[in-house]
Amino acid sequence: MPCPSRSDELVFFVNGRKVIERNADPEVTLLSFLRKNLRLTGTKYACGRGGCGACTVMVSKRDPTSQEIRHFSVTACLVPICSLYGAAVTTVEGVGSIKTRLHPVQERIAKSHGTQCGFCTPGMVMSMYTLLRNHPQPSEEQLLEALAGNLCRCTGYRPILASGKTFCLESNGCQQKGTGKCCLDLGENDSSSLGRKSDICTELFVKEEFQPLDPTQELIFPPELLRMAEDPEKRTLTFHGERVTWISPGTFKDLLELKAKHPEAPLILGNTSLGPAMRSKGHFHPILLSPARISELNVVSKTNDGLTIGAGCSLAHVKDILAERVSELPEEKTQTYRALLKHLKSLASQQIQNMASLGGHIISRHSYSDLNPILAVGNATLNLTSEEGTRRIPLSEHFLAGLASADLKPEEILESVYIPHSQKWEFVSAFRQAQCQQNALPDVNAGMRVLFKEGTDIIEDLSITYGGVGAATVSAHKSCQQLLGRQWDELMLDEACRRLLDEVSLPGWAPGGRVEFKRTLVVSFFFKFYLQVLQELKKLIKPFPNSRHYPEISDRFLSALEDFPGTVPQGVRRYQSVDSHQPLQDPVGRPIMHLSGLKHATGEAEFCDDIPMVDKELHMALVTSTSAYAKIVSIDLSKALEIPGVVDVITAKDIPGTNGTEDDKLLAVDEVLCVGQIICAVVAETDVQAKRAIEKIKITYEELEPIIFTIEDAIKHNSFLCPEKKLEQGNIEEAFEKVDQIVEGEVHVGGQEHFYMETQRVLVIPKTEDKELDIYVSTQDPAHVQKTVSSTLNIPINRITCHVKRVGGGFGGKIGRPAVFGAIAAVGALKTGHPIRLVLDREDDMLITGGRHPLFGKYKVGFMNNGRIKALDIECFINGGCTLDDSELVTEFLILKLENAYKIRNLRFRGRACLTNLPSNTAFRGFGFPQGTLVTESCITAVAAKCGLPPEKIREKNMYRTVDKTIYKQAFNPESLIRCWNECLDTSSFNNRRMQVEEFNKKNYWKKRGIAVIPMKFSVGFAATSYHQAAALVHIYTDGSVLVTHGGNELGQGIHTKMLQVASRELKIPMSYLHICETSTATVPNTIATAASIGADTNGRAVQNACQILLKRLEPIIKKNPEGTWEEWIEAAFEQRISLSATGYFRGYKAFMDWEKGEGDPFPYYVYGAACSEVEIDCLTGAHKKIRTDIIMDACCSLNPAIDIGQIEGAFIQGMGLYTTEELKYSPEGVLYSRGPDEYKIPTISDVPEEFNVSLLPSSHTPLTIYSSKGLGESGMFLGSSVFFAITDAVAAARKERDIAEDFTVKSPATPEWVRMACADRFTDMPEKRPENDSLLNSAPTHEHPGRPQPSGFNFRRRGRVWEGEWVEGSVRKGLGTDVSNFLGTGGGPGEGRRMKPDQISRLDSGVGAAAPAARSRGGCPGRNAGRGVPRGSTDGGSGRGRPSSSPVRPG
Ligand SMILES: Cc1cc2nc3c(=O)[nH]c(=O)nc-3n(C[C@H](O)[C@H](O)[C@H](O)COP(=O)(O)OP(=O)(O)OC[C@H]3O[C@@H](n4cnc5c(N)ncnc54)[C@H](O)[C@@H]3O)c2cc1C
Ligand code: FES
Ligand code: FES
Repeated sequence: MPCPSRSDELVFFVNGRKVIERNADPEVTLLSFLRKNLRLTGTKYACGRGGCGACTVMVSKRDPTSQEIRHFSVTACLVPICSLYGAAVTTVEGVGSIKTRLHPVQERIAKSHGTQCGFCTPGMVMSMYTLLRNHPQPSEEQLLEALAGNLCRCTGYRPILASGKTFCLESNGCQQKGTGKCCLDLGENDSSSLGRKSDICTELFVKEEFQPLDPTQELIFPPELLRMAEDPEKRTLTFHGERVTWISPGTFKDLLELKAKHPEAPLILGNTSLGPAMRSKGHFHPILLSPARISELNVVSKTNDGLTIGAGCSLAHVKDILAERVSELPEEKTQTYRALLKHLKSLASQQIQNMASLGGHIISRHSYSDLNPILAVGNATLNLTSEEGTRRIPLSEHFLAGLASADLKPEEILESVYIPHSQKWEFVSAFRQAQCQQNALPDVNAGMRVLFKEGTDIIEDLSITYGGVGAATVSAHKSCQQLLGRQWDELMLDEACRRLLDEVSLPGWAPGGRVEFKRTLVVSFFFKFYLQVLQELKKLIKPFPNSRHYPEISDRFLSALEDFPGTVPQGVRRYQSVDSHQPLQDPVGRPIMHLSGLKHATGEAEFCDDIPMVDKELHMALVTSTSAYAKIVSIDLSKALEIPGVVDVITAKDIPGTNGTEDDKLLAVDEVLCVGQIICAVVAETDVQAKRAIEKIKITYEELEPIIFTIEDAIKHNSFLCPEKKLEQGNIEEAFEKVDQIVEGEVHVGGQEHFYMETQRVLVIPKTEDKELDIYVSTQDPAHVQKTVSSTLNIPINRITCHVKRVGGGFGGKIGRPAVFGAIAAVGALKTGHPIRLVLDREDDMLITGGRHPLFGKYKVGFMNNGRIKALDIECFINGGCTLDDSELVTEFLILKLENAYKIRNLRFRGRACLTNLPSNTAFRGFGFPQGTLVTESCITAVAAKCGLPPEKIREKNMYRTVDKTIYKQAFNPESLIRCWNECLDTSSFNNRRMQVEEFNKKNYWKKRGIAVIPMKFSVGFAATSYHQAAALVHIYTDGSVLVTHGGNELGQGIHTKMLQVASRELKIPMSYLHICETSTATVPNTIATAASIGADTNGRAVQNACQILLKRLEPIIKKNPEGTWEEWIEAAFEQRISLSATGYFRGYKAFMDWEKGEGDPFPYYVYGAACSEVEIDCLTGAHKKIRTDIIMDACCSLNPAIDIGQIEGAFIQGMGLYTTEELKYSPEGVLYSRGPDEYKIPTISDVPEEFNVSLLPSSHTPLTIYSSKGLGESGMFLGSSVFFAITDAVAAARKERDIAEDFTVKSPATPEWVRMACADRFTDMPEKRPENDSLLNSAPTHEHPGRPQPSGFNFRRRGRVWEGEWVEGSVRKGLGTDVSNFLGTGGGPGEGRRMKPDQISRLDSGVGAAAPAARSRGGCPGRNAGRGVPRGSTDGGSGRGRPSSSPVRPG
């Protein structure tokens, strides 16, 4: 089949408009085409890997079989445009617009407050819109499923779901787990003021105002495409790109001919496997064969003995086919289909399932494949076709292992897959455990099938296959063979487990590491299967008269069988309504929608990279270090400069001014300090050229020593960034002498990636005159960008204007870093004279920019037997990374905030920031508080355990009660703290539920529940008065419209909305008169970073001041004409030459801290709160579900309850991520592995607690702030720890029952791995031979058996009055490869500190060891750089992905 040299025309439709692309490039994705070619920028780039849903669009096609139009959501970043021939694409712009007509989905998501930064919103809209196109009245479960692949880092998802629910079939109240009660019915026991108050509102939007959904208004499928589909083109279509040719045959015959001609060319279906591999692994295929138009690959046929599914069917279609078969056939025949359906529920997102094909899934043979293990045990066969004919091969272990003899020949294609029915006496099950329930690749999965001799429990056939435990899906064939003929009993179970562990060996290596966990899952899954089958057998065998008698399995053990079903979250939000006398027009205190809400929802809100291409614009890509600590020996740019389109490479030599600071360079010179440090930057005509060029830059390094990654190593090498920070009160040593008991312990808290949805980006436009520059940048601190660019270019600040329209999420990560990117791009702009656009890929963003500091804390607490704490000594170390950045300030804040809500007379808090060879960690929501306070709260839990009291009693006993002074002698009144705590206990019915949890735990052995309530005293603001100043500029124009500008940046937190609420109240005009266009250094100079929860407070005061000045000027006019209109007054003022422009200024809250004396008034005020969470854990897998969370927060008089509740919910969910799923993984060489949503798991919509209630404390006031409001941006973060402590409560219950020490190392995040291994049982210790008669079902755990391997953990020993915590290394079992589960100093992990093999993955956060003298310091320390590197050999490396440094020192 000749391949024409000219490209065919690619025809498809976008939003009803025909697109004819004459030079379609197969490497161009739909996302890039929409954004760059069609200028439809509503569809966003956030990950480029199909993992976040920000780029979701709807594709419609006519199904050739059913003749129906199918609508499905896809992630545009993985869709090659060439795959769209004959398709209709709908983007957010095609759904509706502010200019024409809003779609109900857009209207409702905005009005339900489902948007904050708005970067995820178009994707959310498109997922919901597609759902409604297919199901105009979906169920809540369908809604949850549709949104599971869309990440949002701001809202916490609850309001997004609320908007979607308005389309759902009416649900029956909130269905509180079958109680028949609604959470709005506050019950007789609810004595809280929230329950009694009549001025409490529970609605944040008025559903009745929403326009109805009218399906007849939707865009129709283009008639031209319909005609094309009715008479399909049979000709082969070819699209030639720059490097790749796409061939799409029209007939099956042509496809086979092409495959014979190009056997090396892959078939491209969903591109969900090929695409990511081409993007991140550098796979390259010059020819791609697309069988999209071959209907033979979509044939489905049902026979009496099985089901044949075409290889081209999408996984979503496979789901429908299987569901249909399950509904048609008797249960015994559908065992395999049910197992497949179970995994299809959690396999990837709806978008990926719509794109991915069954054939692509099978042929990709990913080791984590969720379907292959089930298809293998289900005896599926593959129907292969080539020009030579057809043949069948089994989907066997050999095929899965890629053995040539069992594989496809290069010229063959997979036509279809045959899956036989199961039969009577046959059972098939599927198991899966991932970091989180939904949208996460599995750690381990399994398919298991057993067939019994009819009427018996004798095993006739057995197959077990595991995924995630090796390079390919692994079959335990040998073990299964050895068990044939055995009875299904405990002896078999015991033997099977040991054989499985022998056969499925993970000798020190497994994809993703976690070897011990994976081994435990291997047997835990089999145990679940054993129980499941036992239950079924009992039902089947009963009628047989001579059948074996089965021992009854006690109900307690049956809890092993239940999975956690996905549940649609419910809940209620309560806030105090405004005073009934407040004028209707006054918006303060009302739940006003985010100003940009509707624009977010229509895609019309412009983010930095949505700014249209400017004339002569060039693109920049960064070259980063691949070495953690090395001398740069040489940089060879020659090959990169040869690449067509490459204009220049910017190095440190090109910087005309200062290159950052001595310790924190913008571009590396001579030396690199971490993997990811920026060395140079390529400037090219396109981003693709720039990215290709960076791969060609050759950098030679000479490695230096010592390389330090962990806190443990930093302490050993005395490697610190700044001096110790210390606070002390009372006499701690004396107090320890007088207490009844003392406990010592350690706490490890991992780092956190900001994962703002909009990666770092900047556009620098040089002007022709006077060296002026316009900089459009996504930042929380434009003044800092401006200042850094000024010093880098050596031009005055007044030539540089920074513009911030809106930021797609910051969370502290866009305070310091944007200045680095802005400055490097500005150097490029100056050197080339062209505008420069720099947009970081998600991988680069995660690699280069640091995040939250990991923390290692040691505590010693002395207390009386009644739980009263008399002395507390905490020492914390944070991992600061390779430059100072904010680490000194984070240490200070950490120490200041460690006491949380507790009054302890004798205290000593010490903190140090470690200098390591990791990217510099920086500001992150909460600024040290979420890590540090976990140490304090863990200490409370340890005291409770020792006193035999519940932790809440210890909390209550030690909480501040009356007006008092903190450790730094700042006076405060804890009244609201106590109120929040009591309200939280009341509204959550804590005491009753504590009893219910205990009852549940008594009745269930394999599932445990835990409950925890946590108080919070969170200090707001910066510890310096000058950081609290703010300014605003308000112009009134002659038509009466008002332009407000202030120094705060819109990060999604709704600051602009709040500012207009303030201006509206002050000027007494409706908000519709007011406008904010951007934050700019030209209108308000010398601004402070929008951070520390204080932005709305301080800028609000400045706006208020400006408005009051203006109103004062207008007063005489108003007095003269009191009945006049606003417009008339303004006109008159203009006539009378009264200035209609005013600057407002707020000098700042007084704040200072004297570290010498350990005294000060560092914080303007505190936010108080409390949260109660309940969870259930699966002790066999480590999974957990969040049953309920109740939050009470003291917002005083909220400026905008919708926004404030949104901040609380969003921060809480982000905190929950920190403490449960978000885990950074590094190689032993310090390379961050977790660089995208597939490896780094932020919470998804399925992680929201099943019941989630948030209330603002009523009748609370503060005289200090604007309208008595409070800043709530950060505080909710720490309340996420209530989930963590509920999990540890459940783990403690499991350990208690198993008679294991209730104390264990506190390590955050509490991942499934940690939970599973902490719930130590027989399966965690399986390889050890157990004594006879030791039943797996009914017995106590084995830890008391001598010689049994111990799980690693922190054990307490009592010496007199002193409990000493000691890390006990789990005894190493032969072949277990415990070294792989090492944490490189994550601390607390098994095998801490051991060296890993290069391909093993570790979590590098903290750790501790004995201090050693060789000082190495940077930043504020004496003897800076004392430990400069010693050469230790030379390596030759290409460019890498790295991270810069430098930034101001301020909290975020
Ligand atoms: C964000 C994301 C999340 C994911 N999550 C999961 C998950 O949780 N669990 C899981 O199991 N998987 C997951 N996956 C993987 C996904 O299931 C596979 O990528 C997908 O099934 C591959 O199908 P495809 O049609 O996209 O294949 P493509 O990428 O189009 O092709 C893949 C390979 O299959 C070959 N091929 C395709 N069809 C044929 C055929 N008919 N004959 C011969 N060769 C063929 C191609 O030549 C190519 O080599 C995820 C993927 C992504 C992107
Ligand atoms: S950008 Fe496409 S899924 Fe994230
Ligand atoms: S609103 Fe969802 S990511 Fe910001």
